[in-house]
Order: sequence, then structure tokens, then C-alpha cells
Amino acid sequence: MVSSKQLQLALTIALSVVCMGMFAQSQAGTATIMFQEQKAETTISRHIYGHFSEHLGHCIYDGLWVGKDSDIPNIDGVRKDVFDALKQIRIPNLRWPGGCFADEYHWMVGIGQKRAKMVNTNWGYATEDNSFGTHEFLNMCEQLGTEPYVCGNVGSGTVEEMSKWVEYMNSPNESPMTELRKQNGREEPWKVTFFAVGNESYGCGGNFTAEDYATAYRRYQTFCRNYNGGYLKKVASGPSVPDDYHWTETIMSRIPAEMMWGLSLHYYTIPGPWEHKGSATEFTRNDFFRTIAYALNIEDAIVKQDSVMSIYDPEKKVAMVVDEWCTWFDVEPGTNPGFLFQQNTMRDALVAALTLNIFNNHADRVRMANLAQVVNVLQAIILTNGREMALTPTYHIFDMYKVHQDARLISTTVETATITDGVWTLPQVNASASVDADGRMHLTVANLSPDKDCQISCPISPDYKSISQSQLLTAKNIADYNTFESPNNVHLSTFDKATLKKGALTFKMPAKSVVMIELFK
Ligand code: AHR
Repeated sequence: MVSSKQLQLALTIALSVVCMGMFAQSQAGTATIMFQEQKAETTISRHIYGHFSEHLGHCIYDGLWVGKDSDIPNIDGVRKDVFDALKQIRIPNLRWPGGCFADEYHWMVGIGQKRAKMVNTNWGYATEDNSFGTHEFLNMCEQLGTEPYVCGNVGSGTVEEMSKWVEYMNSPNESPMTELRKQNGREEPWKVTFFAVGNESYGCGGNFTAEDYATAYRRYQTFCRNYNGGYLKKVASGPSVPDDYHWTETIMSRIPAEMMWGLSLHYYTIPGPWEHKGSATEFTRNDFFRTIAYALNIEDAIVKQDSVMSIYDPEKKVAMVVDEWCTWFDVEPGTNPGFLFQQNTMRDALVAALTLNIFNNHADRVRMANLAQVVNVLQAIILTNGREMALTPTYHIFDMYKVHQDARLISTTVETATITDGVWTLPQVNASASVDADGRMHLTVANLSPDKDCQISCPISPDYKSISQSQLLTAKNIADYNTFESPNNVHLSTFDKATLKKGALTFKMPAKSVVMIELFK
């Protein structure tokens, strides 16, 4: 372990990086974005654009899964409308079965013809019939072309149970587990690559101390084998709060990189006390500023956690995996408090945009992330109700930002005006940029002001000759959202306000908006 002085020094350096990196100020209503194109070496992993599906409320049942016999159009039991929407955004990975649910899930109850019921004690004490299990999840991922990210049970499961699950899913060899898989209708292994060894192990995942979890992790992961030349990317559970450095330090000092592909970090933007987090749709200007301020603070968490990881892993071999992030508000009135159903406004879209920009800008360490959660839970990208389906403003951000998947990061420096509500003073603009394999550059920018336009100027290499496409997401009001009756209140449109002339890209962004601009040489 490092001494507390060394830890202090690392955090002080991190803090100065956060301050320096934050933003330089420019005139009211303006921002300048500068690109360091020659340094585009870091790849933005597509896995930053991942999602999360937990057995919670209506995320799985009625959200993703209606079953083969449903009269709602489905592909082998998966809702077709949801399936198509996920394909459209090129969903790169999907985390399952939890969350807190994962540490009380015993996978064998979710295979075969006869499935035992259980009570979902974390989420509303709902009866779980286990009709959606390993086969249903992995077959769905296969059809979607998304990588499954399975979360194993450390809290109430055994080493043997976890080991056999990995064998069941991944082994091509002859064994009792692979025989069972074949009897259940699946001949070939699925080849799962991402596997979490527990979830929130400091809390709902078993109330471990950091030291005890590090010991348990080493043991559990030993028996999660690599099969058929594959490499299982194992993810360790992360700290309880973003400034718990003791947890991170303990894990990093006690678990070598060859046993741990990634270390998790959860970051929830909760703009009020737990008992009254605030409404998702009815909020004041102060609530809005507080939400954006908390969301922007994820950068501070990433930089400081990274600085602690870097004491032990300066080459950044271990990925930071932000496998739960989102806004968390009070549930919609009249809905089950255990089901975490909330609406999703243009405010959520701004949070998604700024967070994904921050992930992109820290892609050297952040190599995977998962929005919580994919359908009907927390900052969902999709809402369903019976046959109806609506895409949320947050969905449109993932659609817009998919151009960054596996592209090379272009570092940006942003000089921006500030905005204030008298309590919080925030940068008006937040941005990231990348260049893809075909040489197309993509710039994504969020104007975080609820009521002020912003004039943006970007000095740019004169090699860029044209704007090949550009998109805009905005709304009349910051609290606008999509409903089943009006699913297009907040929608993507073409942005035709950008001009590119002699090495200068300029455009005026409306208040509360996000744009994506594609440039071609
Ligand atoms: O996403 C909802 C819950 O929040 C997850 O189950 C848990 O991991 C976290 O505390």
C-alpha cells in the first residue's frame, strides 16, 4: 500500500488536472473549441456506449421480453420494436442480470423447462418467474450483435456456482455443464467476453470490506476459466462513492492486472436527498443547474479515481468500467416505488451528452460504461406500455453519438462562457471530437444553458473541405419529453446552421441543445 502522503500527492495532482482541464472562460454567449488533431492516438472504445438490463420493474419483462407467445410483435420473445431501436444505435454491449439482483441470482433456476420462482427482494418484492434466463439473454445478444456483459453472484453464490456458469456459457469441451447446455437446446458455446465478479460488493453485493472483497475476488476469478482460446474480461466491483479511494487503492494493490480486466465505478446524478430526489419532469431552474453541476462532477470522479489506479497501473492496463451511470429522480407518481420508473426530458439528454463527451475525453482509462437502464428503469432510452413504445431524448443522444464508437479521440480545448443560476456557475459548452477509420471527423457539442444561445467558433485544419452531415437535438422547453401519445415531442433533426470556410467552422447553437457535426477532407 502507498503511504497516505503519496495518496494525497496523487490526488492533489489529479485535482490540478481537473482544474486545468475544466475550461477557460470566453465572452458571454460564445465558445471556442480547438482540436489537437495530430494527437489522435487513443481509441474511444465502442463499449463506452453500453447499456444495462436488470431484473427490476419492467426492464426485462414487458420491456425487452414479452415471450414468444405474445401478440406483441417479437423476435423469439424479444419485442421487435425495442430490438430494432437497439440495433439502430449499434448497442455494443448489454449488462445483465443486475445490479443488486445479480448477487441473489442463482443462474440454474433460469435454465431448462421447469423454472423455479423467486422473490426479487431488492426490487419491490416482485415474484420473478425466471422465464428470462441465460439462454434468452445470450440468444438475444447474439441476434442483436451486442456483447453480453454477465454479472456473477459473489454475495450469496459459491465459487463452484460461478465457475460452472462460465463453463456452461463458454466451454466447447465435453462435460456435465456442456451436456446440460446442449440438452437445453444450445449446441455451441456463446463465448461471453465480459464478466463481473460481483456487483456493489461493498453494499447490496455482500457488505464486504475492501480487504475481504479483494481476497474473495482473487479466489472467485481463479475458477472463471478461459475456454477455447478466449479471454474472459473480468471486472472487479468498485468503490461505494466516487471519493472512496481506500476501496480503489486496496483493490489495485492486492489484485494484479492479469486477474482483472477492469474495475467498476458507479456514478448516479441524484440532485436531492435520497427521500426526495426531485421530479424527473417538474423542476425549477435551480434544480436544473444542480443536476447539471452534479453530472459534470463525474469528470472529477474519473480523474481522481484514475490517479489512484495509476499509482499501481501507470500504463492504464486496467480499464475503468462505469457500468452504472444515469440521473436518478423520484419515481413517477402512482408507480411502484421499487420499480424505479421515471420520465426522461431534455435535461436528461443534456446529462447524457455531457457524460458521453467526458467519457470520450478520458477514453485512455474509461473503456466501458453502461447507462442505467435500457428500458423502463431510471434514465431509460426506451419506454414501453403494452403494445406502445417511445424513444426518450436520451435515446437520441446515443443515436447521435454512435459515430464515436471505435473512432480515435481528438483532444479538444474548450474556451466557453459560463452560465449561472446564482448558486452554480457552470461552463456553457461541453464537447468531444473523434476521427473514424474513413477519416471523417465528428464533433459533438452540448449547450448546457436552459435559455441562452451560443456562438461557437472552431479553428480547424483547412484540409477539411465539407460538412457531410449534422444533427441537432433540442426542445421547446427544457422539461419536454416524449410520451406514447406524442412520441416525437423531442426528436433529432438536421442541423443546417454550421458553415466551414477557410479553416474555420462556425455555428450558433440554440439554448438546451446538442449537435453532432461530421466533417470530411
Ligand atoms: O440501477 C439500480 C441499482 O443501483 C443497481 O441494482 C445497483 O447496482 C445500484 O445501486
